[in-house]
Amino acid sequence: MQVGILTISDRGARGEYEDRSGPILVEILQNRTPWQVSQRAIVPDEQDAIANKLIAWCEAGVNLILTSGGTGFAPRDVTPEATKAVIERETPGIAEALRAESLKITRHAMLSRAVAGIRGQTLIINLPGSPKAVRENMDVLLPILPHALELLTDAPNSESQHRQV
Ligand code: MTE
Repeated sequence: MQVGILTISDRGARGEYEDRSGPILVEILQNRTPWQVSQRAIVPDEQDAIANKLIAWCEAGVNLILTSGGTGFAPRDVTPEATKAVIERETPGIAEALRAESLKITRHAMLSRAVAGIRGQTLIINLPGSPKAVRENMDVLLPILPHALELLTDAPNSESQHRQV
């Protein structure tokens, strides 16, 4: 399994702010899964820049893309819009579960507009930007990810469906 980790932050992309969430995601993936982090990038809060990176990684054969940041209410928070523009099938249960579990920790979880969905054989999941939120969300996600990716990549029909896209 190949994983891509995309940090979305204007200041991070300009080098004015050290990305802490991306390295935390890499560490969690390396320590708690057998998967390979094959792609890493930081892009500004621009819908086209985010969408182009997501599409490129899907075409490169990445099975799982985790984004961090840009899911809130600030005018430049457009990660959910970029994600919705590239996914073919929404997976609302993932976003619902992340918000439901996060609400037990902080009421601010309701301020996340994160979405998740599938493009071809790639699962894309938005996570909030803070390192604390990333860790909390990954605790919810990790138990279901192996089965989700198995279904996405091994289902008998998925290969032929993917070829038609
Ligand atoms: N979810 C968890 N588990 N823990 C958190 O601390 N922070 C929230 C929310 N989700 C948080 C969380 C806050 S404060 C915001 S504004 C939204 O995620 C959106 O975060 P983002 O704009 O960094 O993507």
